[in-house]
Amino acid sequence: MRVAFVGKGGSGKTTLSALFARYTASRGGPVVAVDADINQHLGMALGLADGALPRPMGSHLTEIKEYLRGDNPRISSASAMVKTTPPGSGSRLLRLDERDDPIHTGFSVGTPEGLRLMVTGPFSEDDLGVACYHSKVGAVELYLNHLLDGAGEYVVVDMTAGADSFASGLFTRFDMTFLVAEPTRQGVSVYRQYRDYAADYGVPVAVVGNKIHGPGDVAFLRDQVGDDLLVCLEHSSAIRAMEQGRPFTLRDLEPANSRALGALLDHLDAQEKDWFRFGRQAVQFHLRNAEAWANRATGEDLAAQIDPGFVFGPTRVSLSR
Ligand SMILES: Nc1ncnc2c1ncn2[C@@H]1O[C@H](COP(=O)(O)OP(=O)(O)OP(=O)(O)O)[C@@H](O)[C@H]1O
Ligand SMILES: [Mg+2]
Repeated sequence: MRVAFVGKGGSGKTTLSALFARYTASRGGPVVAVDADINQHLGMALGLADGALPRPMGSHLTEIKEYLRGDNPRISSASAMVKTTPPGSGSRLLRLDERDDPIHTGFSVGTPEGLRLMVTGPFSEDDLGVACYHSKVGAVELYLNHLLDGAGEYVVVDMTAGADSFASGLFTRFDMTFLVAEPTRQGVSVYRQYRDYAADYGVPVAVVGNKIHGPGDVAFLRDQVGDDLLVCLEHSSAIRAMEQGRPFTLRDLEPANSRALGALLDHLDAQEKDWFRFGRQAVQFHLRNAEAWANRATGEDLAAQIDPGFVFGPTRVSLSR
């Protein structure tokens, strides 16, 4: 199951991604946390030192594409593979129960709590403008498009702030999107934008209130977002202490906040995986991307990369029935 944390800048996406990933790992499922934000802070929030971060996926796109394309005859070379190129017959698919492939072994590190972290990588001064950011984050789109994840296996992605995520098809690659909102007018403004865009694509979104100070805050959010409000996390002195550099484990978290993390996991687990939607939208975004720039950039007709016979999801299971 894949989940994205989105929301306004500073709302708590990174904090909640890290806490949720830790909580979920403590419940036993394999968990991969992915830092897909421009400002890379997820490693720190997971308690990793700067020197302990994995190799950044965004700086090794060719290596990643070379592996994923396998011997798919529709993809002529790694350079003809763009972020939206969907898998087809011959492509290599990734699994979370067998993480011994070169993508997981080469681009992730383990944390003391038993989860793995992958990162798009820092964005240097040389990364002029948004184009470069989107190509780095394209590594995550490729990763998710080639991932066969099942129930009880998790990918948690810390996304970039605001509605920037809509610039690519990445926002459609999740089973659930948690929109983190502080109980302020600004906090819920991103929610409205996201909800409307997501609804057009059948992307499920739930609101997670954060930094809540009392019933008035909950009432405000309930009034603004209605039934989309799934659960709220209180303003936490344990989180503040962690920010101040004090040692932190999940046991330090306030019981109400731990219960909220449990509610998020239950909600994610309750989602039904829609491989059909993933497949349909992978093709849709690839065609759009091909027309917008990728055909021109690669000098090929990238629509030909779509394998009409390829079925997203664990087809072996359904075929044997
Ligand atoms: N429930 C909470 N209680 C107390 N402090 C919190 C809580 N959630 C987040 N914070 C604090 O709020 C600040 C912003 O959080 P965080 O960095 O997770 O937000 P973000 O949405 O990832 O920001 P950015 O858009 O910059 O990536 C941090 O100092 C964090 O410790
Ligand atoms: Mg952040």
